[in-house]
Amino acid sequence: MLPVDVVPIQDFGAKAADHLASVLRRKAEAVIGFPTGNTPLPLYQELLSRQAKGQIALGQMRAVMLDDYLGARPDQEISFRNWLDRHLFVPAGLDPRRILPIPTQPQNIAADCRDYENRLNAWGGCDLLFLGLGLNGHVGFNEPGADPDSITHVTPLSQISRQVNAAYWKHGSLSADSVPEYGVTMGLGTILRAREIILLVRGAEKAGILARTLQAEITPAIPASLLRRHARARVLCDVAAAGELKPSPPQRAQEVES
Ligand code: PGA
Repeated sequence: MLPVDVVPIQDFGAKAADHLASVLRRKAEAVIGFPTGNTPLPLYQELLSRQAKGQIALGQMRAVMLDDYLGARPDQEISFRNWLDRHLFVPAGLDPRRILPIPTQPQNIAADCRDYENRLNAWGGCDLLFLGLGLNGHVGFNEPGADPDSITHVTPLSQISRQVNAAYWKHGSLSADSVPEYGVTMGLGTILRAREIILLVRGAEKAGILARTLQAEITPAIPASLLRRHARARVLCDVAAAGELKPSPPQRAQEVES
């Protein structure tokens, strides 16, 4: 079982930010992997708010992207780079040279993925990697059945991921069909080489998949379950996401709340 920190939702961003702050205190230029999605938003808001108050300095860290759509350009709103620029990198004042984007352009994608791996290795790998959890157990775009040893690669997106993402980007207009069919993702093997991993999970709709991730068998059918093989991975979740954990994570939640 991975260590699980269950926190009230209002403390979620602060708790995640505390982890990052402790890494940056030891190493200001630490290499940090950042996901997109709803889940990490409280973390990014907290980081920006702490930086505005002079409580944390983000400018020396090096940021690594986890995934994006194949073919997405950074100037497109749908691109994950665009999203991270808006929600974290630009307001944090991060020099673009300190950002390792995931490659997205199809022409030389295999070579570009190798280059991404080489650059990540040249930076010494991820000191801390934050991950979100997909409803189907994906991490990054490592969909069910992903190769546990894979490095960064192009992958077809599952229907459920495309549906979820369509809802995310819709602004009233995008259907699942308008979400790209392929993604590019840091591979599971690369993810598992991060020195420290924090799986961020919040919301009742993730309770079932979090329970399966932690308490069913370790299997590529639930890619996030492979994190249980990592010596320094942990889960940070809110009370709602812990709702289906057994034997009694609600007790842990109550302890935190009391
Ligand atoms: P979410 O996405 O944070 O928007 O729920 C997580 C994921 O699907 O990886």
